[in-house]
Amino acid sequence: MNQKPTKDQLASGYLTHELKTPLASIRFALELFLDKNAAGLQAEDRRLLDIARRNVSRLSLLINDIMELSKIQTGRLKMQPEPADPGQLARETAEDMDSWVQRAGLKLTVNAPENCPLVFVDRRRTVQVLMNLFSNAIKFTPSGGHIDVTLKADDPGHAGFVVLSVKDTGCGIAPEDIRKVFGYFVQVGPPDKRGEGSGLGLSLARSMTEIQGGIMWVDSRPGEGSTFSFTMPVYVPGAETPALPAPCFGKM
Ligand SMILES: Nc1ncnc2c1ncn2[C@@H]1O[C@H](COP(=O)(O)OP(=O)(O)O)[C@@H](O)[C@H]1O
Ligand SMILES: [Mg+2]
Repeated sequence: MNQKPTKDQLASGYLTHELKTPLASIRFALELFLDKNAAGLQAEDRRLLDIARRNVSRLSLLINDIMELSKIQTGRLKMQPEPADPGQLARETAEDMDSWVQRAGLKLTVNAPENCPLVFVDRRRTVQVLMNLFSNAIKFTPSGGHIDVTLKADDPGHAGFVVLSVKDTGCGIAPEDIRKVFGYFVQVGPPDKRGEGSGLGLSLARSMTEIQGGIMWVDSRPGEGSTFSFTMPVYVPGAETPALPAPCFGKM
């Protein structure tokens, strides 16, 4: 049976179409222009076009994040959990982000125990959580630093879960800011890094973790780096639950 769309659904559908479609055209036109004229462009013209291209990408990411937030708040973020190897998810995400890690002059390692149990998660959403945590670690860690991703299956405080931690050697977070970082549109880091994000990444990552039955937290001190951790439920054969609609999370 077809249900009538809610106001929120209509608004977000409208947003997607009205914002994403013209943005895609701008991006396409810019890329075509850059491809066609790559050889003959003056350095200054190329710089200006690169600024335009970067900002179009930034705007697209922001729109995507706002759409995800709207889905979470209206309980429309569908999870499709399946058995998954968490070490493999972490290694594949690390591989996908390798050029970014290299460019930042960092080293990222993934340590998973042998025979790590499978977890029961939505792969796409879990990769999204990992990308958010990895991209923050890259952004807030100066060149020469390390990002260590560690999986633990036997943490006594988290029986029945695999704990994944992303530890960096970056700028760290002040004690008075720690509790704020999971808030919507919150940015507390060095002002020169703030322009590169929207302050939504961690709130989305935490909500996606909680919808899947896990929790997310952070340990950090200024100047001593940060460790963001989250849990994923261990897969128990035969105990699968059907794909559930996400619960609604608090309004902004
Ligand atoms: N690894 C990290 N090291 C230091 N600060 C961090 C780290 N990850 C997140 N933060 C702080 O938390 C804020 C919120 O993070 P996030 O929600 O991902 O937003 P964004 O990346 O768009 O700034 C960041 O602006 C930063 O101040
Ligand atoms: Mg972020």
